[in-house]
Amino acid sequence: MIDKIIEQTEEFVRNQLGEDSTGHDWFHVDRVRRNAIHISKAEQQGDPFIIEMAALLHDIPDEKLNYSEEAGKQKLESFMETIPLKDVEKNHIREIIFSISYKGGHGSMLSSVEAKIVQDADRLDAIGAIGIARAFAYGGKKGQSIYDPAIMVRETMSQEEYRRGKSTSIHHFYEKLLKLKDLLNTETAMQMAEPRQQMMQSFLEQFYREWNGQQS
Ligand code: ADP
Ligand code: NI
Repeated sequence: MIDKIIEQTEEFVRNQLGEDSTGHDWFHVDRVRRNAIHISKAEQQGDPFIIEMAALLHDIPDEKLNYSEEAGKQKLESFMETIPLKDVEKNHIREIIFSISYKGGHGSMLSSVEAKIVQDADRLDAIGAIGIARAFAYGGKKGQSIYDPAIMVRETMSQEEYRRGKSTSIHHFYEKLLKLKDLLNTETAMQMAEPRQQMMQSFLEQFYREWNGQQS
């Protein structure tokens, strides 16, 4: 029964996100699911079914992938109606999905261990080598530059500025990606973040060396 629901959810998500090129594609969702399962096992915490369902569905209502916030919610709701779960399970899955987003640091407090684990899993996929690739994919899609030294790094910003303000993909490292490791909830995710953080730091160092025309 549980396997069947997971399979049905995978198929739905695959169909919905398959074509996305902003870094929210099916492979992102699959990595988040695997990270989340790994964290849950290592921490010996959380309901594995709820974690897997929330990880699979976490980007479905994302406002960036829908015409409006309302349309995104509706998409998730229509799917929820097709799966045979208890209301408490559905509510828990919804609550995780709507509480984990970063939103320029304006995210909500997390109430359950499952939410903490899925949030960590999603954040791990925004850093490291994959995180670098996703940042430039997203930046390209939005039409933002790779880098512009004339633009200041925004230290504080509203949710609206975070989404719409002028920035570059290199700036995004300072505005979000490098900060994520200190915002993780679980010890396991903190350990997983270490090599990813180093990868971003050495990437940036080399980026500036090349930018400045240094030959070594
Ligand atoms: P969240 O919903 O948690 O705020 P997003 O959905 O905005 O995160 O981010 C999805 C992916 O796109 C992440 O890998 C993120 O780092 C990247 N991204 C988001 N905003 C930008 C940006 N302004 N420049 C480059 N990459 C970005
Ligand atoms: Ni995500």
